[in-house]
This record gives sequence, C-alpha cells and structure tokens, in this order.
Amino acid sequence: MDFSLSDEHEALVRMVRDFANREVKPIAAEIDREHRYPAELVARMAELGLLGIEVPPEYDGSGLDPIAYVLAMEEVSTACASTGVIMSVNNSLVCDPLLKFATEAQKERWLRPLACGDKLGCFQLSEPNAGSDAAAQTTVAVRDGDGFVINGVKNWITNGPQADTGILFAMTDKEKGHKGITAFIIDMNAEGVSRGPKDDKLGIRASHSCQIFYTDHRVSADQVLGEVGGGFKVAMATLDCGRIGIAAQALGIARAAFEAATEYACDRKTFGKRIADHQGIAFKLADMATEIDAARMLTYRAAAMKAAGKRHSKESAMAKLYASEVANKVAKDAIQVFGGNGYVTEYPVERHFRDAKITEIYEGTSEIQRVVIAANVIGRR
Ligand code: CAA
Repeated sequence: MDFSLSDEHEALVRMVRDFANREVKPIAAEIDREHRYPAELVARMAELGLLGIEVPPEYDGSGLDPIAYVLAMEEVSTACASTGVIMSVNNSLVCDPLLKFATEAQKERWLRPLACGDKLGCFQLSEPNAGSDAAAQTTVAVRDGDGFVINGVKNWITNGPQADTGILFAMTDKEKGHKGITAFIIDMNAEGVSRGPKDDKLGIRASHSCQIFYTDHRVSADQVLGEVGGGFKVAMATLDCGRIGIAAQALGIARAAFEAATEYACDRKTFGKRIADHQGIAFKLADMATEIDAARMLTYRAAAMKAAGKRHSKESAMAKLYASEVANKVAKDAIQVFGGNGYVTEYPVERHFRDAKITEIYEGTSEIQRVVIAANVIGRR
C-alpha cells in the first residue's frame, strides 16, 4: 500500500493551491460578507480545467481521475467553501451523470459546454416535501406526443440562480413509486422554467441556491437522461459520487480552520508562553490533525474505489459522514482556540464554522449517510 501521491497529482495540487492562495483566499471573506457569486473565480476555474475534471478531453474536460478531483476540491475549499461547492456541483452532480448515462448526441450537446465551463449546471432532486425521502417526488412529467410536459417545484438548488443546464428528476408514473421517476436534461432558459429569489443562508453565502419552478415546461424525448423510470438510480449513483466531493469540501474547511488555529496558537501568548504550549490547546490541535488525516484517508479510499470502477456507496457515505462531522468539530474547536477573536468576523474561523454546517446536510444528511452505511453493514430486512 502506497500513501504517496503521483507526480501528476502533486503537480495538480501545486497548481490549484497556487490559484486558491493567490485568487480565491484573498476575496473569500468579502464575497461571503456580500453574498456575492464569484463569477470571476468560476471563469478562472473554467480556464484551469477545474469544472470538468473527470470528463475526457474528447468532450473538452481535463481527463483526470477521481483522486485528482478530491485533491482539487480540498484545495479550493480550503480557500473558500462557497467556490468549492459551485465547482463540485458542476463536476459531480452534473458532468458525472451525463458522462455515465447520456447518449453520444446528448454528450455532444450538453456535456461539452459544461465540462469546459462555457455553461454551468445544477442538480434538481430536492423538493419542499422531498428532501431525505428522495423517492417522494411530486414534480410530474406527463407524456405529450413524443415529449413530456413538466410541472412542479424544486428546492435549495445550488447554482440554481446561475445555471444554464439542469439535471431534473420528476415523476413519470406515480403508481410505480421510485421506479416511476425519470431524469431529464433541462435548458434552464427555456419557456416554463423560472427561478425564485436566492436563499438567505447561514454559510456558503457566495454560492447561491434557489427554488426552480416548472410551469407547463415542454421537453422532447431526447432530453430524457437514461431510461424512462430509471431516474432514481441515476440520482443515487450520482450522489454516490457527489458525496466524495462534499467529503473533500469538508476536508478543505477543516484544514482551513486547523491551519488558522495552529498559526494563532503559536503566536498568541498567555501566562508567559504560547497558548500552543498549554496542553489544553496542544491536545486540541493534535486531535484536529489526527481527525483531518483520518477523514482524508476515507475520502481518498472512496475516490480510489470510484477510480477502480467498484461500487462505493458505503465508502462515499462513510467519507462524507466522517469528514463533515470532523469539519464541524474542528471549526468549533478553532473558535475556542481563538477565544474572543474567534467570535468576530475579523478572523476567518467564524466563517469556517458557518460553512461547515451545510456539509452535514446537503447531498444527504448525516442521518441519511448512516442509513446508507447501515443498509450495507447489516443488510436490509
Ligand atoms: N446506486 C444505484 N442504485 C441504488 C443506490 C445506489 N447508490 N441506492 C439505492 N439504489 C436502488 C436500490 O437498489 C433500489 O432498487 P430496486 O428497486 O431495483 O431494488 C432502489 O434504488 C430504491 O432503493 P431504497 O429502497 O434504498 O430507496 P429509499 O427510498 O429507501 O431511499 C435513501 C434510499 C438512501 C434514503 C435515498 O432516498 C437518499 O439518498 N436520500 C437522500 C437524498 C439526498 O441525498 N438528497 C440530496 C439532494 S442533492 C443536493 O443536496 C445538491 C446540492 O444542491 C448540493
């Protein structure tokens, strides 16, 4: 077993870290404060090939592997978790299902512009009354000639306000439950698709989400992604990959909080010595370092299993569950290390604390990750 990164992966980390330190980190606090979508950073990520990392070059992607994806996600998210999730949604919730389930013609039309960053994507599964219970879809797609007419509402759609393309899940046959759900590829600027105001959120404030409304929106048969009735499996398989990305985002947030706390603890003095030399603080830093490394190993393992073409539902859920809980614990402890300074916006740790929370919620709450892990560990009744 070799824990070292390849030369190619090391070079990618250097490139993305340089971008993150020079261009992302300096404006992270400002775009959070102003709730501003960082269009200029998204354009730069497109130039650097970070929006279609695993898409092969024949579809204008970077042709890298899932390990490269988590390495890049950690670097960007260490600088700014909002920028990280904009990137992760386009990569793993939009490009990934198109790569796996789209026809050749669909890849040409929809995947190519998303992979090179000419367009931005969003993933529309959640509804006002269908969050954790993803099969309880009430958005309907009714057959009409050779196409479908879609009506319904989608909730908390990350990249929703900016997206050009959406992966939408809708019920085509209510009688069949989850086997009646179909995935569609949506032109977000077409008639019958509208967007609500952006959500006012606790954290990741520079990444925008909103409701999406469908009113008699007509799609043609060639906008069905995968099989009619096969949408639930498209959603679940997509989330297996997306959860690896959120684990890497959580790792980035945890690392940012840890690095800030370590620097502060080595600088600040009380009772005649650095606070890092008080065991109460030193042990906190030791626990943070250990837990971040453990989360990183789980994340790399899930990515490696994806790279090897193995089923990785359990491993992705474990990585997301653990990394998101570590991010929350580390960010909370980092505030404690900073004391009063941790509670004010002059220092970055209150932002890391607010940003960490969503990683325990989106792409499946921690409770849902435990459901997935338990189903794999104990089997189903
Ligand atoms: N891959 C492929 N197929 C899968 C699968 C997987 N990982 N998991 C389940 N399936 C299949 C099952 O094999 C089963 O198929 P059959 O009927 O053929 O046997 C079918 O799907 C139904 O499986 P379950 O009975 O397990 O389904 P369930 O209704 O009990 O739900 C669940 C399972 C894990 C709870 C699921 O509903 C779930 O993941 N919920 C959370 C949803 C979620 O993560 N939402 C996040 C929204 S996206 C987001 O946050 C994006 C953003 O903006 C950042």
